[in-house]
Amino acid sequence: MKALLDSLTPDHPDWPLARAIDPDRLPAHIAIIMDGNGRWARKRSLPRVAGHKAGIDPVRDTVECCARLGIQALTLYAFSVENWKRPRSEVETLWRLLRYYLRQELPKLMANGIRLRPIGRLDGLPFNVRRELEDVVHLTSANLGLQVNLAINYSGRAELVDAVNRLVKQAQAVHADEPFEVTEDSLAAELYTSGLPDPDLLIRTSGEMRISNFLLWQIAYAELYVTETLWPDFRQPDLLRAILEYQKRDRRFGGLTASPTVASRTEPLAVARIK
Ligand code: FPP
Repeated sequence: MKALLDSLTPDHPDWPLARAIDPDRLPAHIAIIMDGNGRWARKRSLPRVAGHKAGIDPVRDTVECCARLGIQALTLYAFSVENWKRPRSEVETLWRLLRYYLRQELPKLMANGIRLRPIGRLDGLPFNVRRELEDVVHLTSANLGLQVNLAINYSGRAELVDAVNRLVKQAQAVHADEPFEVTEDSLAAELYTSGLPDPDLLIRTSGEMRISNFLLWQIAYAELYVTETLWPDFRQPDLLRAILEYQKRDRRFGGLTASPTVASRTEPLAVARIK
């Protein structure tokens, strides 16, 4: 896969946006709350599941664009623990679409060094979904390019509770009689995103101003970008506009000195590695 600018010609409509992006100040990690599938379908008098189906193309487009840009990690909110409250037929369609996506995209993930990792309470997933996810995780585990985290049966609060419980168990096993202290580093090491930089940019589609229990710990200093675009309509130019807006922000991390947005902590992987 070519780097983004190499994949476009100057007469391509995305060229000016792609040219405006500063490659030295890219977010290392982008997180997205993909919202608005139901409204997209309703506007077209289609069943809600048609909106979810139309939500696959923007997933492909976003993964490809992030890989072309050399972004290190992309986390997509695909299914929250609260989504089980939806009608069974809708939930089953979401599982079918996920399995379809995994099967369709595996060759592309492999060809482009993309690593896929589901995050969430995976033991709560239907057996066949879990098995296919595990296969893709295994097959892509040695890939060194973009890491795509799919948040599935995910809850930020549950993630924190699980992390604290693991720390408590470890402490009880090792130093049963001693008081123990949780630190930011020890807690972060137990989260699903351990080892990755925190998201620098959190995008939410469909105009809703909510966090919806997503990455509660990790987004402490993320720049928020909310677009009215409904997820099924979200494409490369929307992502590029979000990144451009991010690059205009002054990130102070609670301090007083305005520092220009920089890719946090970890350098993005060399674009040259991506085929
Ligand atoms: C939110 O829209 C979207 C979801 C709950 C599901 C996201 C799923 C996809 C994008 C489909 C494919 C995903 C993968 C990873 C292959 P909503 O239904 O809450 O929309 P509404 O707020 O307009 O009702």
